[in-house]
Amino acid sequence: MAAIRHGDIAPGGAAANEALLLGALPVAVAVLDGENRFRYANHAAEQFFGLSFAQLSQLRLADLVPPDNPVFPLLSQVRRGEVTVADHDLTLESPRISKRGIAVQGTPLVEEPGAVLLIMQDFSAARALDRQLSFRGAARSVAGMAAVLAHEVKNPLSGIRGAAQLLENSVGAADRELAVLIRDEADRIRALVDRMEVFGEKPLRREAVNIHRVLEHVRRLAQAGFAAEIRFHEVYDPSLPPVSGNRDQLLQVILNLVKNAAEAITEGEVPHGEITLTTAFQHGFRLTVPGAAQSLHLPLVVSVRDNGPGIADDIRAHLFDPFVTSRINGSGLGLALVAKIVGDHGGLIEVESRPGRTEFRLHLPMLNEKGDSA
Ligand SMILES: Nc1ncnc2c1ncn2[C@@H]1O[C@H](COP(=O)(O)OP(=O)(O)OP(=O)(O)O)[C@@H](O)[C@H]1O
Ligand SMILES: [Mg+2]
Repeated sequence: MAAIRHGDIAPGGAAANEALLLGALPVAVAVLDGENRFRYANHAAEQFFGLSFAQLSQLRLADLVPPDNPVFPLLSQVRRGEVTVADHDLTLESPRISKRGIAVQGTPLVEEPGAVLLIMQDFSAARALDRQLSFRGAARSVAGMAAVLAHEVKNPLSGIRGAAQLLENSVGAADRELAVLIRDEADRIRALVDRMEVFGEKPLRREAVNIHRVLEHVRRLAQAGFAAEIRFHEVYDPSLPPVSGNRDQLLQVILNLVKNAAEAITEGEVPHGEITLTTAFQHGFRLTVPGAAQSLHLPLVVSVRDNGPGIADDIRAHLFDPFVTSRINGSGLGLALVAKIVGDHGGLIEVESRPGRTEFRLHLPMLNEKGDSA
């Protein structure tokens, strides 16, 4: 194999052109030798593993992913059969990297026996987007239902509540308890209808939002109330540009995510509950939505992570659908609302969850010079 290495590109010549091309490719490309040592990694591969080529060149693949990972049998198969082998849904999980839904392709390098060209593409965001589009559909149907409920339920409900209140004052002690029960339950329905009304379609008023202020506000709220026992960590990129969005709605998003994280920690009886709030700038994060004229540029990443027990398996597939809850007192509207707001912002939400580590990641648009979303 010609030693094309990141960093030592000679001017001119075919090898230099190849190196430039490989470097610019948005797909992670790496070459492993017969012992799975890194011989080459382009920029995208460096980003994929979170290490520079200089660091990668000191490592074997087994230093980055556990030995039972299915990528190893894939590599053996490539070497044995001298054929290209692909896996379209691989998980690479280790203390360093955590990626699901990765498409991996291994091809033998003819010039160098044992060497394998590895191409890796992260489709998890695209899949998340796919799912999110259907969540938006679900949220829309809730919007319609909310409008009907507001009209048809609220009026008779206030009648019931008023009548119960009158009874409370005129009946004996034994029946008063029942009247109070009717009033309380009417209040509960009212609160539910109020929450659903938020799903109504209103045009989004965008402004420049300093997401760090929003995160701080939520953290203070949480620590003064529902998350008083939980430790917060903040890992912020101070140079993050403003988000193009609606402050109040983004606050609702973060609050719902932090509340869920705190509830998971409390209900899971995790002894040292921790919530980590992170912001980062992800250069060049673009998504192409089917049917959309332009690809979405979503460089701002905001994440809420907790060390709770993780999302229950039976609700994972419908997590963002309305009324999906594992809590006795939960309405299951929190994440549906989150998905709706993020969708209205043209953003994307991803989830990764296993026991001890659950992370909700938002990808949001930034404001450009003209004040529109970039
Ligand atoms: N951080 C988390 N860790 C574990 N499970 C979670 C987490 N966030 C959400 N979930 C699961 O997702 C379900 C749905 O969450 P959602 O916020 O939509 O509703 P809820 O919290 O149950 O009720 P509500 O938010 O309306 O009070 C939760 O019941 C819980 O099972
Ligand atoms: Mg919730």
